[in-house]
Amino acid sequence: MNFLMKTIRFTNLPGDGIGPEVMSVALEVLQKTGSIHGFACETTTHDVGGAGIDNHGNALPDATLDACRAVDGILFGSVGGPKWENLPPKEQPERAALLPLRKAFKLFANLRPGNLFPELADLSPLRSDVASAGIDVLCVRELTGGIYFGQPKSTKTLEDGQKEAIDTMVYRTGEIERITEVAVKAAALRNKRICSVDKANVLETSVLWRQTVTKLIHKLDPSIELTHMYVDNAAMQLVRDPNQFDVLLTENMFGDILSDELAVICGSLGMLASASLGTGTNSNGFPYGLYEPAGGTAPDIAGKGLANPCAQVLSAALMLRYSFGLEEAALAIENAVKETIRSGLRTGDIAQGAESVGTKEMGDAILSRLH
Ligand code: IPM
Ligand code: MG
Repeated sequence: MNFLMKTIRFTNLPGDGIGPEVMSVALEVLQKTGSIHGFACETTTHDVGGAGIDNHGNALPDATLDACRAVDGILFGSVGGPKWENLPPKEQPERAALLPLRKAFKLFANLRPGNLFPELADLSPLRSDVASAGIDVLCVRELTGGIYFGQPKSTKTLEDGQKEAIDTMVYRTGEIERITEVAVKAAALRNKRICSVDKANVLETSVLWRQTVTKLIHKLDPSIELTHMYVDNAAMQLVRDPNQFDVLLTENMFGDILSDELAVICGSLGMLASASLGTGTNSNGFPYGLYEPAGGTAPDIAGKGLANPCAQVLSAALMLRYSFGLEEAALAIENAVKETIRSGLRTGDIAQGAESVGTKEMGDAILSRLH
């Protein structure tokens, strides 16, 4: 036995729909990567989302939360599905599992890389001359502030019988600064261009956002090319000419919307991973994080062995990179996925009607390309 072998500890929360199928591929990939790159995986599986509701009466059961507290990161599948669609919005698996997890682990920094593999350019809804250039944009979204969590947040009945609902958008300089720092670090590893997206022509929070971002980037790294864009324009520019962007930095709700737009122009949700990083450090000295594919639970193909495992596998790579500092291992996984796509192998979601393979074959192909 190798006593120097590093052990990485994380929970895996497969969730609903295709979650368990693609999670099992990701776990296999992690095991094999560990055997090549010298680390062991210690992981436990827990219910979340609809599975949490069905088995424990809670989309985020206490046992799941406790298990997550005891480790250094979370590999998350996906949650939700038709079975739970009629629950009140607050109890729906997506909201009742993800938002409390973000809050509990202070996962303030959401990184959503938008990459269009050149081999998959035809899957993008963008015009072919735009898509064929490939897409490589990183969306850095603030995840624990803004209108999602601001108080007051309530619905009441007024004296005249109407109902009134209130959401509050709040930002403090500290929240803006810490997400800006993440964007600066990310940009330093890319093309050093940040476009900060806001609505400073209307919103007070956006005025503060713009001032704070400008001041901090100037202080941290004046060599970064910083631009500002109103969110409505950014939504338009993203479909017109996505590669004008390198890093998009934005607040919670704008980031929610723009990251979906970025995902769809990249062609297949089955290929996109994301990372949500917390404040402080885990027992390895890296940020605690939650890693999840961008796509949903795909209930129509759940349990049939047809789902594309790439996004879940790429999420595992992000986990190795950000929460465990295993850059080489992360790259090995990313390359194995790239080579698999290059080899022409396709699951149904990216096959465009041509011959396709199932989850297991795709997974095995990735495993065989790991080195
Ligand atoms: C996302 C989702 C969530 C969000 C929902 C499910 C609460 O849309 O992760 O982008 O709005 O943040
Ligand atoms: Mg969203």
